[in-house]
Amino acid sequence: MRLDRFLTNLPCFNRQQVRLLLVERRVRVDGQVVSDPRHEVRVFSRVEVDEQVLQAGYPARYFMLHKPAGCVSATTDPVHSTVLDLLDEPHKDDLHIAGRLDFNTTGLMLLTNDGQWSRRLTQPQTKLPKVYYVETEQPIEEHYVARFREGFYFAFEDLTTQPAELVPLSSHSARLSIIEGRYHQVKRMFGHYDNKVVRLHRERMGPLELDPALAPGQYRPLRADEILAI
Ligand code: URA
Repeated sequence: MRLDRFLTNLPCFNRQQVRLLLVERRVRVDGQVVSDPRHEVRVFSRVEVDEQVLQAGYPARYFMLHKPAGCVSATTDPVHSTVLDLLDEPHKDDLHIAGRLDFNTTGLMLLTNDGQWSRRLTQPQTKLPKVYYVETEQPIEEHYVARFREGFYFAFEDLTTQPAELVPLSSHSARLSIIEGRYHQVKRMFGHYDNKVVRLHRERMGPLELDPALAPGQYRPLRADEILAI
């Protein structure tokens, strides 16, 4: 949220006072004086006015989870266990999923409380490839490759999918790299050929690869270099 909005939302300042506080350089965000009203305040920013702490801030958190099959990519579910149930962490409620996976899809899942970071990871404009290992019911034919590159028209969204790279690995398996994350995207792409996806596993999102040391259901915090890579 913008700094001026953050401050006027507080019961103690009106708009005029906020403008003055900023001009008089009395506001600090994460220890730095900020006078730009558009400066972005995040939930983990520390905000002070004249040394009085208005928001203590708390650290941004980032986790990599090996999502198992049979688990919902949601923070709550009335019936099934969710990916958040697998995390033994305090304040789990402020975490969100950066790029959901279907109930039976396995593999790399990233959870964070940093909305800007997760947006950079998932929005198609940043063109970060999401790499999947796929197994299908019917053979994957050679002509699929060009078609995946050209894109498929998705009537519901009224769009054509961005070029995807399909690399067949065997008659019924392939590695697929896509830069979007439309609803059931991979299944719908193969669905064009009535070819059912029977196994789907996300190996990578941009530069972040699923840690091979993580068994299904296990997780770990991201390292600083992994966080900064996005
Ligand atoms: N595409 C799908 O169809 N399912 C997933 O879980 C991820 C991508």
